[in-house]
Amino acid sequence: MLRRPRRNRKSDSVRKLVEETSLSVKDLIFPLFLIEGSNKKIEVQSMPGIFRFSQDLLLKEIEECLKLGITAFDVFPAYPESLKDSVASESYNPETFYLKALREVKKQFPEVCLMSDVAMDPYSSDGHDGLVKEGKILNDETLEILAKMSLAQADAGVDIIGPSDMMDGRVGYIRELLDESGFTDTSIMSYTAKYASAFYGPFRDALDSAPKFGDKKTYQMNPANSQEALIEGDLDTEEGADFLMVKPALSYLDIIKLLNDNFPLPIAAYNVSGEYSMIKASAEKGWIESDRAMLEVLLSIKRAGAKVILTYFAKEYASLVK
Ligand code: PBG
Repeated sequence: MLRRPRRNRKSDSVRKLVEETSLSVKDLIFPLFLIEGSNKKIEVQSMPGIFRFSQDLLLKEIEECLKLGITAFDVFPAYPESLKDSVASESYNPETFYLKALREVKKQFPEVCLMSDVAMDPYSSDGHDGLVKEGKILNDETLEILAKMSLAQADAGVDIIGPSDMMDGRVGYIRELLDESGFTDTSIMSYTAKYASAFYGPFRDALDSAPKFGDKKTYQMNPANSQEALIEGDLDTEEGADFLMVKPALSYLDIIKLLNDNFPLPIAAYNVSGEYSMIKASAEKGWIESDRAMLEVLLSIKRAGAKVILTYFAKEYASLVK
C-alpha cells in the first residue's frame, strides 16, 4: 500500500497539523432569555443549564461571559400574556423591559456585539410571527410592525437586528426604514432559510410563545426543500442583509453549505434549542458525553460553512476551552 491515510492520524500533533476546521469562542453568539423584574434567574425546564434572567442578572451573566471571551449575545424576551396583543404593540414601546435592557447592556458593555430578534411571536396574543386575520398570516401588513420593532431596537443601540419572522420582503422594508432614520450602521442578520422545525420546542417553552392555533408552515420553510433557500438567499442579498442565517443547523448542514457556496455574505447557523436539549437529555441519562458531543456538533456546523454559530453551548464551550 503506497497510500495510507492513517499516517496523518498517527499522533495528536500530526492530527493537529492536518486539521482543516477550527473553532473559536469568537465564532459564537450566545442567545440569552430575558424576563421582567429583578433578581430572577429561572432555569428553562426543557433546557438544563439555560436560564431566563431579569435585567440585573442578565447584565451579570454577560459580564461573566465577557471574561470567558464571548463577545456577542442575542437577547430574546419572554413576555407575560398580559402584555401581548394581536398587533404586538409592546414590541415598539420604548419603555418596554426588553428595549430598556438592551439599552442598559450597550451602556454598561459598549464593546459587546448585541443582537436582537425581530418577529411578532413573543408579543403576539396569537403566538405567530406575523399579523393574523381569519386564521391567515398577513404578509405586507406585518412588515410595518416588524420595521417599527427594528427601529426601536436600533434606537436602543442594538448592533445586529435579527428578523426571524420569514415574511416576504421584510429585510428590504426594514433596511429602508433604518436607513431613512439614520441607522445606516445597524446590521441585519437575516433568518434566510428558517425551516418549520420540531427543534424549536424548548425555545417556545422558554418564551411561552407557542402558536395558539395551527403551525408556522405558511411562512417557515418545508424541511424537504433546498432550492427555496437559494431564492431566499438571493432576495436577502438584494434587500441588503449583512449575514445569511440557516436555522436549525444540524438537520440542515447541506443548506449551510449550499448558501456558503452560492453567496459571498458570511453565513450564520442557529444551533437551536431542541438540538441543545437532545444532547443534554441524553447526557443526563448517561447515554452520550455532553462535552464531546458539543464539540463535534459545533465543529460540524463550522465545517459545513458557517462563519458564525448561535448556540446555547457558547458559555459551556468557552469555559471548557478556557
Ligand atoms: C421566533 C424565534 C424562534 C426561534 C428563534 N426566534 C421560534 C419560532 O420560530 O417558533 C427558535 C430558536 C430556538 O429554538 O433555539 N420567531
